[in-house]
This record gives sequence, C-alpha cells and structure tokens, in this order.
Amino acid sequence: MLRFSAFETSLEADLVGHALLTRCHIGDTPALCLAPVSVRPERQRSGAGSAAIRAALAAAGDMGERYVTVLGHPAYYPRFGFGRASAYGIGLTVDVPDEAMMAMALDAAHPLPSGTVRHAAPFGI
Ligand SMILES: CC(C)(COP(=O)(O)OP(=O)(O)OC[C@H]1O[C@@H](n2cnc3c(N)ncnc32)[C@H](O)[C@@H]1OP(=O)(O)O)[C@@H](O)C(=O)NCCC(=O)NCCS
Repeated sequence: MLRFSAFETSLEADLVGHALLTRCHIGDTPALCLAPVSVRPERQRSGAGSAAIRAALAAAGDMGERYVTVLGHPAYYPRFGFGRASAYGIGLTVDVPDEAMMAMALDAAHPLPSGTVRHAAPFGI
C-alpha cells in the first residue's frame, strides 16, 4: 500500500488531506487504485488534494507502477491524466456511472490493458 499526504505548511503542520493508492488488478495485471482521497472541508479547493494526488502518481511511477484506476468525480480526475475506463475495455464487477470509472497509464510505453478491475478486499467490490 502506498500513501502520500499533503501537509499544511504551518509550524504545527496539521494534516489537511491525503491520497491513498492500494493494490488492485485489471484482469490479471497489477495496478493501483486511487482511493480514498480526502481533504479537510475547511481546506478544500486550495490545492491540497491536487498536491497529494500528483505526489502519489509521481511516486508510483518512480516505483515502476504502470496503471492507476479511480472511481470518482468525472469533473476532477481527468486533470491528472485519467480517462474513461470503458474506452479501454476496463470494467467493474458492480454497476457505476460509466464516466465515474477512470484509469490512466503512468508510462506511455505501456498502454492500459483491458479487463475487469478487482479491488482489495476491504473495498467490497
Ligand atoms: C474531492 C477533493 C479530494 C478535492 O480536493 P481539493 O483539495 O478540494 O481540490 P483541489 O484544490 O486540489 O482542486 C480544486 C478543483 O477541484 C474541483 N473539485 C473539488 N471538489 C470537487 C468535486 N466534489 N467534484 C468535482 N470537482 C471538484 C474544484 O472545482 C476545483 O476545480 P478548478 O481547479 O477547475 O477550479 C476534496 O474536495 C474532498 O475531500 N472532497 C470530499 C471527499 C471526496 O469527495 N473525495 C473524493 C472521493 S472520489
């Protein structure tokens, strides 16, 4: 499990948000699932979520990870490089709004595989 956090740059360094990447699979191919991502309500829309997500994706790429999936706001995640998963033949075992299931390749030399996403057991899907 990889976890990357965005911290407030104050003397007390309160935790203001985080992005978590967990192991999942697209078919039989190892990938990472970006979930959950959260920012304290009073600090939302100030860049903390974006900072945590960008740091998490960069670190994952540095570690040799190739693929990331996310189930979330379709207006938010495309800015990080996510695209509609169904366009790549990637699906889920449960019904979700098509535009909410997204995926991205971290390395252009390794395009997304197709298949059904299997999440870690605690997600229950
Ligand atoms: C979603 C969330 C992680 C975004 O983090 P953030 O630090 O508030 O967002 P940032 O400051 O990095 O980015 C701001 C941008 O995100 C957009 N945004 C924030 N929350 C959004 C949401 N719920 N849906 C769509 N867009 C959202 C803003 O409109 C803004 O867009 P703009 O740059 O075009 O103006 C945060 O709002 C949050 O914790 N929300 C509650 C929990 C949640 O929904 N988690 C995600 C589950 S998929």
